[in-house]
Amino acid sequence: MELTRDEQAMLAGEDGPATCKAMQILDALGTIYGADRLVPVSSVQIAGVSFDNLGEAGLEFLSDMAAGGGKVKTLTTLNPAGMDIENWQAMGIPADFARDQQRVIAAYSKMGVIPTCSCTPYLVGNLPHFGEHIAWSESSAICYANSVLGARTNREGGPSALSAALTGRTPHYGLHLTENRVPTLMVLVEAHIGDPSEFGALGVVLGKNIESNSETRLGKTIPYIRGIASASLEGLKSFCASIATYGGLGLFHMEGSTPESQQFSPAILDKLEIFVINQKNLDEAIGSLNYKDGEVPGAEVDFVSLGCPHLSIAEISRVAELLRGKHVTKTLWITTARPTKRIADQMGFTTQIEDSGAILAADTCCVVAPIKGRFNMIATDSAKACYYAASKNGFKTRFLPFEQVIEEALK
Ligand code: F3S
Repeated sequence: MELTRDEQAMLAGEDGPATCKAMQILDALGTIYGADRLVPVSSVQIAGVSFDNLGEAGLEFLSDMAAGGGKVKTLTTLNPAGMDIENWQAMGIPADFARDQQRVIAAYSKMGVIPTCSCTPYLVGNLPHFGEHIAWSESSAICYANSVLGARTNREGGPSALSAALTGRTPHYGLHLTENRVPTLMVLVEAHIGDPSEFGALGVVLGKNIESNSETRLGKTIPYIRGIASASLEGLKSFCASIATYGGLGLFHMEGSTPESQQFSPAILDKLEIFVINQKNLDEAIGSLNYKDGEVPGAEVDFVSLGCPHLSIAEISRVAELLRGKHVTKTLWITTARPTKRIADQMGFTTQIEDSGAILAADTCCVVAPIKGRFNMIATDSAKACYYAASKNGFKTRFLPFEQVIEEALK
């Protein structure tokens, strides 16, 4: 891989030990993946923020990079942390965890990373535009950036995203290349897709089928999706989270909804293998995310959560309306980005939500918070949250449309 003079200087340590380490990481990655060069990035988003996932070893790496003089060279924001940074006590987070989490945030902040702590950076000011090279590492956000925004990013890990931030570069391979963004599978949707939870279920069907076919897995399969009349921002963010979780996908095209979908001629599209998704497939996917009554005697929903991915201000306003004058009977977490919560505070939505007994938390979510073993069963509208609630936290799951999730909290 060829490096420019500036990049060689960084590799030689002229910008300090942290930048040197970052350049070593990118040089090794670029060589492994056959990149011809590094490209400048206009935006970075770093996952690997919750101390629950990072642990001591991760914190030590970050502290060393901060102590080594690392400073970001481009706009860089963070993925959710393991708690609401300002209000962790209300979430029942242990004090020792809170202390370690604060150290993680402090290390990132020292390097100039903006601690928005959100998996929807595109809703809070980290909004790359069409064709820009970026380096993001939250899987749902990567899929959104590539597919919905038309920006270009590979699925970065936490260290490679941090390295991109400290050098302002990323290796030029994979989804940065136009030839790797061409659709390889035609998906015909013959089912009703409207509520964000239905977009999530669609991602489960497609993701699982792609995953089960190792020939076309990750980076090779780029679905071109037909048959969806309209897709809202909320529907697309739900779909991105789901398809990234269940199929490992970082890019899809959706006719009429994503920018690059217009670029492919019938000569390309008519040759693609066709995969049909019908209502029965969708219903089965929804069923697979739902705990079967009686599976565990007496098991009931005791935790309810909306906000995976983080809620938009439009969704928060809807939650506030649904909870107005009511009282929840179960633990209800509504999670969002800090800047979005500030708007909710100003609009009175936070008071309206919290008067019901629910928590409107910023910076975190029901997956990255350290809540293993604390609840038996979660109700959520997120297929991704169902996956991790079961696999990471051992919870049973109820997968419901948005409004029914709120109803469940009020039952
Ligand atoms: Fe975001 Fe947490 Fe879901 S990081 S996509 S809310 S698992």
